[in-house]
Amino acid sequence: MSTSHITLPTTPESLLPLVIQAMSRTPDARLRELMASLTTHLHAFILETQVTEEEFECAVKFIIDIGQATGPKTNEVILAADLLGVSSLVAVLNNPAHHNNQHAQEEAVSHAALLGPFWRANAPICQAGDNIARGNTQGLPLEVCGVVYDKHGKPLPDAMVDVWHASPVGLYENQDDAQENMNLRGRFKTDAQGAYFFKTVRPAGYPVPTNGPCGDLLRAQLRHPNRPAHLHFMVSTPGHKVLITQVFADGDDNLTSDPVFGVTAPLVGQYEERMINGQRQAHLTHDFHLVDGEMTFPHPPIP
Ligand code: BEZ
Ligand code: FE
Repeated sequence: MSTSHITLPTTPESLLPLVIQAMSRTPDARLRELMASLTTHLHAFILETQVTEEEFECAVKFIIDIGQATGPKTNEVILAADLLGVSSLVAVLNNPAHHNNQHAQEEAVSHAALLGPFWRANAPICQAGDNIARGNTQGLPLEVCGVVYDKHGKPLPDAMVDVWHASPVGLYENQDDAQENMNLRGRFKTDAQGAYFFKTVRPAGYPVPTNGPCGDLLRAQLRHPNRPAHLHFMVSTPGHKVLITQVFADGDDNLTSDPVFGVTAPLVGQYEERMINGQRQAHLTHDFHLVDGEMTFPHPPIP
């Protein structure tokens, strides 16, 4: 049988339309759109940079390696997205505060920041004023308080403020066998005035995990791994979009070189230090402003 009537690719550029055509019957319209765009960008990238067979093999190996390095203590796939700025881009794109539009100017809306790999669901439910530094966690005492508002500036009672952070040695409890389960994690309900208040210890900056393939990538790019010190927050209440954000420590050397691009100016908190009864203590006041939306929670990056 003659094959002269069949269209087969003859040049690198003629492959893309065939692939798009092959995927064109995808019933899910959004999947069809996403895959067509992704494939188009991938083909353009390969043509532009003239990817070699060895480079392609290396890229496949990196993807296999980040999957295999993901486990109960780290999520190397999320880390790879973080280091490429992709997680921050998705967070910023999906938060109205980062858009220079009328909506953002008329209403106070908190900036979002990437979730990171270390959030755990079901942190202990705490009472206002409880200390989340459990066991013998050493460090400068820190008090944190603020108010959760809706988009009109009305305080939101009964909102949930979920906080987690690294210890003063720069490790999350689920990376560090020396810490108690759920150390430096807690969920606090706002009171009738929308206020929350908790005690902890001042967090330290820390390096993102560098013992896996993402560490190799950072070294190949001569990039440092050190995140500026921060507290993570996930603030939620029904009828509002869940706010996932971080509050960074002012004065940290790495505020302008965060390896995962999470820092924006409004997220730099003012950590005041005072002497109280002869003891040095830090204090942070930080308010949150939520927007209307569905209360949808992420899946925990590690169990
Ligand atoms: C974090 O803030 O917990 C984090 C974010 C990205 C990579 C590693 C850690
Ligand atoms: Fe963190």
